[in-house]
Amino acid sequence: MNKRKKIISVVGARPNFMKLAPIEREFRKHKSLFKHLIVHTGQHYDHKLSKVFFSDLELPEPDIYLGAGSASHAEQTAKIMAEFEKVVLREKPDLVIVFGDVNSTVACALVCSKIHHNGGTIPLAHVESGLRSLDRTMPEEINRIVTDVLSEYLFVTEKIGVTNLVKEGINRKKIFLTGDTMIDSLKYYKHEIAKSVILNKLSLIPGKYILSTIHRPVNVDSKSNFRKIIDIFSAISGLACKSIDFRIVLPVHPRTLKMAEKFGLLNELRSINGLMLTEPAGYIDFIRLLRDSMAVITDSGGIQEEATFLRIPCLTLRDSFERPETLNMGTNTLCGLDEALVLRKIREIFSGKYKKGRIPELMDGKAASRIVNIIKTSL
Ligand code: UD1
Repeated sequence: MNKRKKIISVVGARPNFMKLAPIEREFRKHKSLFKHLIVHTGQHYDHKLSKVFFSDLELPEPDIYLGAGSASHAEQTAKIMAEFEKVVLREKPDLVIVFGDVNSTVACALVCSKIHHNGGTIPLAHVESGLRSLDRTMPEEINRIVTDVLSEYLFVTEKIGVTNLVKEGINRKKIFLTGDTMIDSLKYYKHEIAKSVILNKLSLIPGKYILSTIHRPVNVDSKSNFRKIIDIFSAISGLACKSIDFRIVLPVHPRTLKMAEKFGLLNELRSINGLMLTEPAGYIDFIRLLRDSMAVITDSGGIQEEATFLRIPCLTLRDSFERPETLNMGTNTLCGLDEALVLRKIREIFSGKYKKGRIPELMDGKAASRIVNIIKTSL
């Protein structure tokens, strides 16, 4: 009888968990073929950024926890590498899967490509491969490029990813257009999301609030950009007073809170009329908040896709983008920190004139099954 293949999936930060969950479910269906281990690097460690996602997404406890925690990019990456190397040397996996573009992703990719086992390095699979913002000041862009160049299996979410990788000289045979496992999770938990009571808890009325998330270093680590965001919220809040009654709900990321305190902007943020600051929401509650919102204002990457799938208007406070389908086909508009543009789009949303968007073909809930089938037939 063939020995089961040992696969290690590595997650570390909030946006990784919903990408892993559907893959974990697929591996569970094929227990006779695969032994699947989950490694959590500990990049995110707060209950609200990590544990609640494991319970919401019914993920088993991680098999191995590396406890990396927060530090500078170099320190965090190095710590994850040192700990993950021990895991790989001990477990000798047949394949390591990494997700997205966070520091945990690149750290573990580097480890795999430097360990020799069975006459080669440890094969690496990258889920959400090929996205490019072409903005190398973003840590995520560096993480994506490095991880992709080291991967044997590049699982791409949308067509442009294939083009990007081919342009960078990656062998076409390693590239697989599989779709988005993040949307698999959203579809799978549709009924749980419908049952969430978060709107009642926050006294919100469906369609009468704007959801917002802001955490990118370019927006919150710079005082002048943070101030521009506060001005955007104030201007939107002014519109609310003039026309219809609505709120802005801002679940606050720890980085955003820390920087607001550091810059002395927290009180100003708190005093904006109709703006509610809340703790970061878990997965089910957050998607419910998104599903029932009139619009979302964000600098997150994943939310642009989730909003497109749910056909919720999405105004992205960034200058670069890596998910063009959400702009060309979906509900997303790139606004940078241009207050006038944001206000114009908000008015369009109020008046029902904002684009409705179409759902891209590959957002069909089957990405993880495609990925595991490819691994099954080729590993
Ligand atoms: C990371 C990812 C980013 C992703 C985001 C989602 C990188 C380079 N960035 O950014 O792509 O969109 O996660 O949240 O990997 N902190 C806590 N508790 C935690 C984790 C962090 O308080 O559980 C605080 C720490 O003070 C830390 C700061 O948040 O210094 C930033 O955390 P870090 O993991 O470095 O990056 P994120 O901004 O969360």
